[in-house]
Amino acid sequence: MKINFVARLNDSPLVIVPIFKNAATLALLDRLAVDFKQTPFLLRRDFKAEAKECLLLYPEQGSDRKVFLLGLGAEPSLGDVLAIFRYFAFTQRARLTQDVVLDWRVSTIGATSTTYLTAAVNGLCLGGYQVGVHKADSLFNIHPFKNASAMLTICAQHPYLQLVAQKGVETAEAQMRLMDLVNAPSNFKQPRVLGEWAEASGKQFGYKTTIFDKKKCIEKGLHALLSVNQGSPEEPRFIIMEYLPTGITNKKLTKIGLVGKGVTFDTGGISIKSSTNMHKMKSDMGGAAAVLGTIELAARLQLPVHLIGIIPSTENMVDGKATKPGDVVGSYLGKTIEVIDTDAEGRIILADGLSYMVKNYNPDTLIDLATLTGSVIGTLGYHCAGLFTNDDALAARLTLAGELTGEKVWRLPLWDAYAEDLKSDIADLSNFSGKPMAGAISAAKFLEVFTDRHPHWAHLDIAGMAFSATELSPQQSATAYGIRLLTAYIELIINDL
Ligand code: BES
Ligand code: MN
Ligand code: ZN
Repeated sequence: MKINFVARLNDSPLVIVPIFKNAATLALLDRLAVDFKQTPFLLRRDFKAEAKECLLLYPEQGSDRKVFLLGLGAEPSLGDVLAIFRYFAFTQRARLTQDVVLDWRVSTIGATSTTYLTAAVNGLCLGGYQVGVHKADSLFNIHPFKNASAMLTICAQHPYLQLVAQKGVETAEAQMRLMDLVNAPSNFKQPRVLGEWAEASGKQFGYKTTIFDKKKCIEKGLHALLSVNQGSPEEPRFIIMEYLPTGITNKKLTKIGLVGKGVTFDTGGISIKSSTNMHKMKSDMGGAAAVLGTIELAARLQLPVHLIGIIPSTENMVDGKATKPGDVVGSYLGKTIEVIDTDAEGRIILADGLSYMVKNYNPDTLIDLATLTGSVIGTLGYHCAGLFTNDDALAARLTLAGELTGEKVWRLPLWDAYAEDLKSDIADLSNFSGKPMAGAISAAKFLEVFTDRHPHWAHLDIAGMAFSATELSPQQSATAYGIRLLTAYIELIINDL
């Protein structure tokens, strides 16, 4: 979607007027009634500006000119605004056209923070997202906003707002590209495809990629990743990305290391999962998607930050060659792991991702994201990710970024007592406590070993957040969780907040 700017509404054929529910709402409705030739008391009666409320007006007799009043509710958060616009664009798709004007004049929307506009545009674009790309009619049935020539015109006092809106488009485009990848079935996104995706994105948006194939993984000693890959006919990939903005040389940039779990399908391996929900395990690369999306978006926006991304990627399959429960495997760090449960594969591949990052890049801050445990869903449900860190300042920033974006996180403990159960008689540690409790925490304690005591490390268990039910799909589908969270986090650092 392209962005345009006008200072006056004129006679635009399709206008969206967002309206807060506050003390000024009634007066605003009376004015809009005059502008759009409505009866004031009817407008007051039929539109309350509740969140997601939508009233369609036809101001000209015999004309198709449409004006949508869109309720924002009282004091919505940025996440609410995004959700409201996304819901609007999705549910009104049959009435929308590819040329739309968003009325963002101070007289209608008030003197609100510019970040609201980014969120609104972000939501409008996301509402055009199409889950059913494998349907035969998917090429004919596209949302008007997804047309190549679709144009969103921002009607506002200051042309600067065009840039603010553009950020919403860039964010949505990165998010939707990653939603496509997470929604893709595993027969369309082997680890090799993830690597190719990163390479193409790096070329297009300007960041460096280095991709290890199986031979290179063996050469580098990525034994933990290789052990999970053993049962799969598809080669693993170890994907490394590095982003630096162009043209900034005089300033020391914060270096942030991001590691994402890239399991393109998780059968559980020999400790096989039950079949009921196994198909959803195509989304077990949601952490990888968050990392890919954040780096692509940082490059699109040319954020002043130094990012390193690492994605260990493999399938976790059942096979005669697969790692068996009780096997002992090595790791890049040199520690040995007794594999009690082959379904606890995420932590095994992240072990290599984390220690490779620390040893070769030594970032100032290290954050990993993974659809790591069912346990975190049992603990926190589908409303936030589990956050694990010993760094209070990092916890505070990530929590604030979560509140700002609506991609929330909640901190859980990392006390050493939880590591007791990971002791192994025969290896340096085991990958599973064998107990049905505190599973998300012991998984985090496992990862901690491979960060080599990095003082500024945080782990986000996003198992409940990467793939969930929204209005876009009654079944679960990709959410792009983490991209806005991490981008907001990076912006807090950039602005010294
Ligand atoms: N990928 C799963 C975790 C998961 C579960 C993600 C549900 C999204 C939704 C992970 O690899 C896994 O299987 N974890 C096991 C660990 C256990 C065997 C220690 C789990 O949580 O059951
Ligand atoms: Mn698993
Ligand atoms: Zn998994």
